[in-house]
Amino acid sequence: MLNTKKIMTSNTKSLSRKVMTLMLLALVAMMFSLPAMSVESLRGDKPLDAKSVKVGKYKVQSEEGGYERNFEKQPPLIPHKIDKYRITLKNNGCLKCHSEKAYKKEKAPKVGDSHYITRDGKTLEHISKRRYFCNQCHVPQVNSDPLVENIYEGVE
Ligand code: HEC
Ligand code: HEC
Repeated sequence: MLNTKKIMTSNTKSLSRKVMTLMLLALVAMMFSLPAMSVESLRGDKPLDAKSVKVGKYKVQSEEGGYERNFEKQPPLIPHKIDKYRITLKNNGCLKCHSEKAYKKEKAPKVGDSHYITRDGKTLEHISKRRYFCNQCHVPQVNSDPLVENIYEGVE
């Protein structure tokens, strides 16, 4: 006697195996065709080992009176050039003007009071180590257009 149940199951099994293989093939084909579609980073579609698009020449902007802040506790943007001021282990060029000692004479704003507080909440006489590398938080601006549209709105 013919066992129809057995035939059915083995047929469905091989069918589902075929479907699986086809789907896998389709997936592989998709993976290979993806780069040809439009995956493009800000760097352009140049391969990593090729030279990138040439960067335009931009000028660091000076903003008299400083830049407006967009949110509370924002590190203010730097409104002047900084290429001459070095920050090394021994010396911090920014403090020549922004330190407690120098700021009056240099007519520069003094670093925030928060810059003297350690991570444990102690207030120091000198700048806290965690505020030593100023450019971690403060950056100048150049006259370039934004790379991507920015719809952020600052608080009033
Ligand atoms: C030769 C003096 C001098 C040096 C050195 C200097 N600055 Fe300044 N900085 C100023 C003056 C003056 C202003 C105020 C400019 C204005 O408001 O028009 C200013 C403004 C700023 C502001 C804006 C503060 C605010 O409240 O808007 C930041 C941030 C700043 N400087 C960071 C730095 C950093 C970081 C360095 C080192 C890489 C540095 N500065 C080096 C003189 C200096
Ligand atoms: C970890 C981030 C961070 C680092 C590092 C840092 N700052 Fe700031 N800075 C801030 C923030 C946030 C503010 C605004 C709030 C405040 O005053 O704490 C600020 C404020 C300032 C202001 C304006 C102060 C005021 O009263 O308006 C100056 C000037 C400044 N920083 C200079 C410096 C200099 C110079 C250095 C390096 C010696 C430095 N900052 C390092 C985050 C930082």
